[in-house]
Amino acid sequence: MERALRTLTVLQHVLFGVLAVVCLARALATGASVIASVLLTLTLLGWYAAGARASRRHPAESLTGAGPGRQGVVWLLGLTAIWAALVALSPENIWLAFSLWLLAGHFLRPPAALAYAASVLALVLLATWRATGSVTVAGIIGPVIGAAFAVALSRGQVALAREGIERAALVASLVAAQTEAETLHAELAAAQRESGVLAERTRLSRDIHDTLAQGFSSILLLSRAAGAAGAAGAAGDPATLTSLLGQIERTAAANLDEARRVVGALAPRDLDGSGLAAALRRILDAFGEESGIRTDLRIDGDPAGLPTTAEVALLRTTQGALANVRRHAQATRVVVSLSHLDDSVRLDIVDDGIGFDPAADRRRGPVSGGAGGYGLPSTRARLRELGGDLSVESAPGEGTALTAHLPLGPVAAEGDRERVG
Ligand SMILES: Nc1ncnc2c1ncn2[C@@H]1O[C@H](COP(=O)(O)OP(=O)(O)OP(=O)(O)O)[C@@H](O)[C@H]1O
Ligand SMILES: [Mg+2]
Repeated sequence: MERALRTLTVLQHVLFGVLAVVCLARALATGASVIASVLLTLTLLGWYAAGARASRRHPAESLTGAGPGRQGVVWLLGLTAIWAALVALSPENIWLAFSLWLLAGHFLRPPAALAYAASVLALVLLATWRATGSVTVAGIIGPVIGAAFAVALSRGQVALAREGIERAALVASLVAAQTEAETLHAELAAAQRESGVLAERTRLSRDIHDTLAQGFSSILLLSRAAGAAGAAGAAGDPATLTSLLGQIERTAAANLDEARRVVGALAPRDLDGSGLAAALRRILDAFGEESGIRTDLRIDGDPAGLPTTAEVALLRTTQGALANVRRHAQATRVVVSLSHLDDSVRLDIVDDGIGFDPAADRRRGPVSGGAGGYGLPSTRARLRELGGDLSVESAPGEGTALTAHLPLGPVAAEGDRERVG
């Protein structure tokens, strides 16, 4: 379309030049002053050319003329004044009016363009009357149709040019939007990669806390006990010593195994395909044997079909809770209950130890990288990631009850897919 508009503009320039030359020839032929006619026609052409050149710098704003806005109007009025002088010199110059009407549509708004066209028309009729002494109906209708046609044509041209500008702007904004979308997409991918790395780090630190750290603290306690038994010398019981060493060996072996699994991001060793209930049983038996604390396991409902992520989370919750019972509770008994509901699973770990104030503990907050306070918050975060939660009920002197709750919906299953993928 731009090409067609440019062609139209060039045609308009050519028309103006041809009309100017033809009018000059006819004026000279009808006896007009040669010098005045030639000078005025050259001035007219020069003025026109200057405007056409300026319009190239604003091609879309005005297709011919001196450019957009007021400058264009001034240029058109100047051109009209030179033309009026030419008409005064010789009425043959009225033919240039057609080009003026064409320009009017470009530089003036419709009402002003009509007023301008009417004024030029009046001048044309006046010149005709002066030359012939009369104006016929045909002599009026001809110029009126010419004026109407020229103004309408130029308005149409302006409308087309505007449409072209709008279309170009639209295309530019679409291209910009697409570039922006691509940038955003790249940023999102980078953020996802980063969060994947973070999630993996968090998983590793939790696994290390819940398994390796607890295993080492068991080994430490058992070694101290063995050391104490050894110090008792002959009075010590060799069977106790042997049993303690056996426990140390088993715990160290389990830790080694667990370390390999943590590094390989495999399911915990205790979850060896026999299901969560069996894994809990094994953990509790070992815990009871090592700590001397009585343990009890209760399973409600059908344990089949738990996603691995849920099983891992509940197993880690139990391991963390038992480590706390051993380190802090001074309990004589701990009861672990696993309840399978329709769309969720619930795990309770209740001990009869000294208890604590959970609110005060929360206020202290987790001690990062330090000795304590990482266990409960990280267990809670692990469960929340799967759409569940952890609640702690305790008071000094009243034992402690931990309740983990996990929904068995799309969230848990999704976590599973991520872990496997
Ligand atoms: N069963 C419990 N009996 C008594 N106090 C408990 C029990 N469980 C937790 N606590 C108290 O809550 C605090 C926070 O426990 P949490 O597991 O978050 O951290 P931690 O055991 O001190 O350290 P970490 O688990 O990071 O090695 C403990 O320091 C302890 O005071
Ligand atoms: Mg702890």
